[in-house]
Amino acid sequence: MKFQLILFGIIPIAILNLSEFCLPLVAGESVHHTFVIGTNDFLLDGQRFQIRCGEIHAARVPKEYWRQRLRMAKSMGLNTVCAYLFWNLHEPNPGQYVWAGQADDAEFCRIAQEEGLWVILRPGPYACAEWEMGGTPWWLLKNDDIKLRTRDPRYLGAAKSYLKEVGRVLGPLQITHGGPIIMTQVENEYGYFGKDASYMEDIRQALLAAGFDGPLFECNPPDEMRNGMLTELFQAVNFGSDPAGNFNKLRVLQPTGPLFCSEFYPGWFDTWSAPHHTGKTEKYLADLEYMLKTGASFSIYMAHGGTTFGLWSGCDRPFKPDTSSYDYDAPISEAGWPTPKFFQTRALFAKYLLPGETLPPVPATNPVIGFAAVELKETAPIFDNLPVAIESETPRNMEAYDQAYGCIIYRTTVPAGEATLLEAAAIHDFGWVFVNGTRVGILDRRNARATVILPERTAPARLDILVEPMGRINFGPEMADCKGLIAPVKIGGKVFSGWKIYRLPFDDKMLAGLKFTDAEPAGRVPAFWRGTFDLEKAGDTFLDLRGWGKGDLWVNGYCLGRYWNIGPTQTAYAPGCWLHAGENEIVILDLIGSQRPEVGGLEQPILDELRPQLDFQTTHRPAVKLNLDFATPVHRGSFATGADTQEIKFAAPARGRFFCLVSLNAHDGKPYSAIAEIDLLDANGSRISHNGWTIAYVDSEERAGEDGTAENAIDGQKISFWHTEWKNDSPGHPHRLILNLGKSQVISGFRYVPRQSEGDGRIKDYRIYVGDNLVQP
Ligand code: GLA
Repeated sequence: MKFQLILFGIIPIAILNLSEFCLPLVAGESVHHTFVIGTNDFLLDGQRFQIRCGEIHAARVPKEYWRQRLRMAKSMGLNTVCAYLFWNLHEPNPGQYVWAGQADDAEFCRIAQEEGLWVILRPGPYACAEWEMGGTPWWLLKNDDIKLRTRDPRYLGAAKSYLKEVGRVLGPLQITHGGPIIMTQVENEYGYFGKDASYMEDIRQALLAAGFDGPLFECNPPDEMRNGMLTELFQAVNFGSDPAGNFNKLRVLQPTGPLFCSEFYPGWFDTWSAPHHTGKTEKYLADLEYMLKTGASFSIYMAHGGTTFGLWSGCDRPFKPDTSSYDYDAPISEAGWPTPKFFQTRALFAKYLLPGETLPPVPATNPVIGFAAVELKETAPIFDNLPVAIESETPRNMEAYDQAYGCIIYRTTVPAGEATLLEAAAIHDFGWVFVNGTRVGILDRRNARATVILPERTAPARLDILVEPMGRINFGPEMADCKGLIAPVKIGGKVFSGWKIYRLPFDDKMLAGLKFTDAEPAGRVPAFWRGTFDLEKAGDTFLDLRGWGKGDLWVNGYCLGRYWNIGPTQTAYAPGCWLHAGENEIVILDLIGSQRPEVGGLEQPILDELRPQLDFQTTHRPAVKLNLDFATPVHRGSFATGADTQEIKFAAPARGRFFCLVSLNAHDGKPYSAIAEIDLLDANGSRISHNGWTIAYVDSEERAGEDGTAENAIDGQKISFWHTEWKNDSPGHPHRLILNLGKSQVISGFRYVPRQSEGDGRIKDYRIYVGDNLVQP
């Protein structure tokens, strides 16, 4: 194993002008520092250095609050902060770079340095992070069939230009140049996605060429490390539990060097309609203490999650849009408050400080205010505020019309006639269908419903499909997630041509041009609502959105994110630094139509209130018929105990569109089944892509007490899991989970990843069925 890293901090020092190393590290200090990855430890200025790091994303915290959050992190006991850069934030259009305001990551690093924190930089080009398209820019999708995260020159060329720009702006902030950045990450969890080491090498070379002369590393979950691994890079591992076991796996591939967990999860992110996630604090503390005691280094992902402001929230796979709150149940709350987990983490760190270290006092939090609900009286219905149309023969995805975000309307005239079927190949993501201005149905990606019955028309009628995309998928093979109506679009079985396209990008220009009136909208139509609220004094507040349906909101011109009445998030964090004494303006887009157009400010967020009764999707899983193929399993077996991944080969390969796992009992004798991840193996024993997979059937899934939805078994993440019901009911075995692979495939076996952190639901005896007709609609 060869690390380029052992030389870092030595060679550059020898060849660079010493004056470059004399920039002050903390106020008043004028020292030149070195950071080296040694054979056993990280070495800072030659001394053993245990990295106690936590992740914070500058873009998810108002710039005005960066210092307060970094001080919180320091006072919790962190000595380092880890930060992704989001390519799409920095390059909104090809070659147009933005580093100001919320995108001023160099300033974020400088503040970290002033506050005595080191920085680990994760510039991408891919980040994941529940951020729109994993941080990659939408405009890449203007190239048909572009292969993201590969050596496709259209992707790689753009990624290299971006990394060069990152080097220009952030390269000078490396420790080798007197700055706080001690290490830089190459790509992100690439092993989850591909195996092409030459792609990783291209990205490494791009970073070197961009001037990243400090240590470089890559990170992966333990079982994916081998895929595309570069031995030139220091290897870090990401996990949420079992540090001993996971570091052992790292040791197999990297026998020497310090141990570094570059993502250790104290909680988890939220997706719409699933219960708010909270981490198990006792377990988190025990694992953290293990790492502290054994001298391992770590980064808490997230130390402070903050908010995915704007329209930047991403989407988990196969299709689970992320909430705008990125609280993450992190030790520092969304609004920057210390939580009980914060104080427990701080107390733990206090026991393991390095020689000479002390913890600074916990800084004050920002003032919090509430205010009484105000009515939003002015409205601007979307259909009264349309821009000039683009003529289009057939409807195309929104990127083809050069549109990045917002909503898009597809309009045409349908002739008089009987009720007829409208069908698109797919809908990304929600389509509100109107005939002559009256809503007749909703297309919904969650259940792949891209069809609607158009009612009988006595005369030619105006058809509008208003498509609302949520964030682009940020993880896995589905990331090239084009938005809008996915062609072909048929009406009455025939491809229908002659459409007008209206782009609604929700940018400043469009918002400034909206024509508001005092008139009540006619019925529950999609509309912007505007009002004001008066404050005596500004302060952080949580806007109560429980009277609204679904959409986005802006306060004083700042987009605070998305909201949706089904929860779990019911409030929007409005930072006090974006409010002021006197009159403040609020604009709310509601695509469903407000029930109660009022908004007030609360002093506490509501992050955990699900209201499935308000969902326009009435059935979470449409009823299906299960077929008799069940009589002949292709395999019967018993899983081993423990959390390790188990690979099972069938005696003979089977073929089918459906894969069914039936659990007969669990190792702990309880009635539950849980699965963290299922992978299927093709005829050569290689993992089959999950692209296009859906859940065809599941007999039970917990959707109230925790996020136990079946999609978690195929989302590529080992931390999330499918779990049968336990809160309101506890149905017993057998449990059945059936995957629809989208097409018939040869399957030679599978991999089962048991639920990771705890044993409940780990399956013992099971049967597998594979076939083309296991399920019928
Ligand atoms: C992975 C990614 C992160 C983030 C977490 C989940 O480990 O590397 O960017 O998406 O999952 O929050």
